[in-house]
Amino acid sequence: MFGRLGRLFSRPAVAGGAWVFLVAGIVATVLFVGGFTVFADQTNRLEFCISCHEMESGPYAEYTKTIHYNNRTGVRAVCADCHVPKEFVPKLAAKVIAAKDVYHHLAGTIDTKDKFEARRLEMAQRVWATMEASGSRECKTCHNFQAMNLDEQGRRAKKKHPEAMQDGKHCINCHKGIVHELPKGYEGD
Ligand code: HEC
Ligand code: HEC
Ligand code: HEC
Ligand code: HEC
Repeated sequence: MFGRLGRLFSRPAVAGGAWVFLVAGIVATVLFVGGFTVFADQTNRLEFCISCHEMESGPYAEYTKTIHYNNRTGVRAVCADCHVPKEFVPKLAAKVIAAKDVYHHLAGTIDTKDKFEARRLEMAQRVWATMEASGSRECKTCHNFQAMNLDEQGRRAKKKHPEAMQDGKHCINCHKGIVHELPKGYEGD
């Protein structure tokens, strides 16, 4: 075994250089993935999101009145569960895009209730477009049509969910405004 390793390292300088790059590449990737994972975990915490989004009215106050914050069984969905993907590549993309929010925070784009409301429709439309494009992927990390007991659901749900499965519809097509108030000026689909 050592003989083979020895032969590898005694190859001409070019091959040796390639090995150094390969090893350095692997080390850099491991450090990057590890570092990003820690960063993502920290910035996915509810406390982090509401360090900017805590207002007497607005996303946080509205959320704490809903079933996703408080329910019979005590399973809570936090902001990032719905707004940040779980998979590595989409999560990385989401975190990069979120850099714009830091800019808008410093610029004070939504720092008063009036400014927030004026911009709410535009922001909601961005969220809907993201969920539309992903097929409500984040909702489905917890919910799943197959796991629903339709017998226990209300009359309208019992009728609509099988239809949705057949037509390939997904959660956000029908469930807008479940956590936050619908924006003024939103006319429905
Ligand atoms: C540094 C302050 C700050 C933090 C921390 C922050 N946000 Fe934001 N967020 C903003 C600002 C400012 C906007 C408005 C951006 C705009 O108007 O384009 C925004 C917009 C949004 C939007 C609207 C959609 C969009 O893309 O504009 C969502 C959803 C959102 N934030 C969710 C979150 C979640 C979830 C977290 C925690 C993981 C979080 N935010 C953490 C400042 C912040
Ligand atoms: C982290 C897990 C999680 C995520 C993510 C999640 N939910 Fe939920 N959802 C729950 C739980 C838990 C309940 C409450 C179940 C109960 O107690 O009956 C719930 C309840 C609901 C209800 C029932 C509301 C009511 O008043 O009875 C709807 C509708 C719903 N979710 C839609 C969605 C949609 C749409 C998304 C994506 C935008 C989503 N959920 C994302 C966990 C989640
Ligand atoms: C075609 C429209 C449609 C789609 C798509 C849809 N739903 Fe629903 N859902 C409904 C209707 C209508 C109700 C009844 C709620 C009401 O009457 O306000 C409902 C009710 C619910 C309830 C409460 C059930 C009860 O009776 O306790 C949950 C939870 C729920 N939906 C989750 C989801 C999730 C998660 C998805 C995506 C996987 C989804 N729905 C996709 C139309 C839809
Ligand atoms: C169960 C899923 C879910 C959770 C939990 C959730 N959101 Fe949202 N959020 C949505 C959806 C869906 C929209 C798109 C607008 C709508 O349908 O109400 C949205 C829209 C927004 C917007 C755009 C403005 C608006 O009111 O539409 C902001 C900002 C936002 N969320 C921030 C947050 C923050 C901060 C938290 C945690 C305190 C949070 N969200 C928790 C699903 C969620």
